This record gives sequence, C-alpha cells and structure tokens, in this order.
Amino acid sequence: MIFRFLRRAVLAFNFFLLAFSLIQGCGQSGTDRNASNKFTHYFRQGEQLYTQHCSNCHQANGTGLGRVYPPLNKSDFMENNFEQVLCLMRNGIKGELIVNGIHYNQAMPGVPTLTNLEIAEIATYIYNAWEYQRGLVDVKEADKILNACTPH
Ligand code: HEC
Repeated sequence: MIFRFLRRAVLAFNFFLLAFSLIQGCGQSGTDRNASNKFTHYFRQGEQLYTQHCSNCHQANGTGLGRVYPPLNKSDFMENNFEQVLCLMRNGIKGELIVNGIHYNQAMPGVPTLTNLEIAEIATYIYNAWEYQRGLVDVKEADKILNACTPH
C-alpha cells in the first residue's frame, strides 16, 4: 500500500519535472534560439568565405602581414568604418589608409562576385572572430549599406 503510494508519488514527481522542463524549454524564447542558430550559420559560412577570399593577405588569424596587409583582428579602422568595410569587400580600396596608427598604401582588390548575403556572413565572421563581439550582421542591414556604396 505504502509502496504503491510512493511509486505514484515518484511518477507524479517525474511527470511534473518533465512538464516543467518542457514548458521551460519552449518558454525560453524560440526567437532567441533562432537568432543564435542564424548567428552560428552566418559565422560558419563567413569563416569559409574568409578563408577563400581574404586570409591569403590578412592571414587566418586576422593579424595581417607586416606593413603590407593591415590587421583585421584588432583594427580601429574596422571599428570606425563599418559601412566602408562592407563596401570594400566588393569594391576594393586603394590609397593611403591608417590602421592603429600605421600607414598602409597598397591596393586591395575587391571581390565583385560576392553577394550581399556573403558579405554579411564575412562581416559577421570578422566582427566576431577576434577582438570585437558585434553580433550578427544581418543581410537586411548589409543590403541597405551595400546599396549606398560608391563604386570605385
Ligand atoms: C590581395 C590581398 C588582399 C585580399 C585578398 C584582401 N585584402 Fe583587405 N586589404 C588589403 C590591403 C593591401 C589593404 C589596405 C588598402 C590600402 O592601403 O588602401 C586592405 C584593407 C582592408 C581593410 C581595412 C583596413 C583594416 O585593416 O581594417 C579591411 C577591413 C579588409 N581589407 C578586409 C578584407 C576582407 C574582408 C577581405 C576578403 C573579402 C579582404 N580584405 C581581402 C589586402 C587584401
């Protein structure tokens, strides 16, 4: 008798635990989880695209190369010129440029075939892999910026 009662009590307790964790799991805002999945997806794609299009010059760890290729893993230029950074991936950049007080003056070729989404993904990568934790650079944000670039 007492055993049956205990077993029921245990079963009921487990049921409550399960129900509680389910409610909590769902309650823990689905949008948060979607947002972090989206971030992870952009970041991974961005990493591949970075390896393919950028790391030759800027290096896998973003340090750049001496006075020839400027760094991305800690760059006041990137911090202050977010819009321009998105544009230069597609259009390139030339002329004198100062990064962390060091002068660079080599032409960087752009990659005109990059889509807005790919640029958003690379931006998500370079703005989160190292010094910065900017969070997701959504393609909608990139669209607006890229439409306003002045082509070189
Ligand atoms: C062929 C070598 C080369 C490639 C490939 C290249 N860059 Fe650059 N990048 C440069 C050079 C050189 C500069 C400096 C340009 C200047 O002096 O005007 C530069 C400048 C920059 C800057 C601004 C300066 C800084 O350090 O903050 C950013 C950001 C940047 N590149 C990002 C990228 C990204 C992202 C890619 C890939 C889509 C890429 N670059 C591909 C050579 C390259």
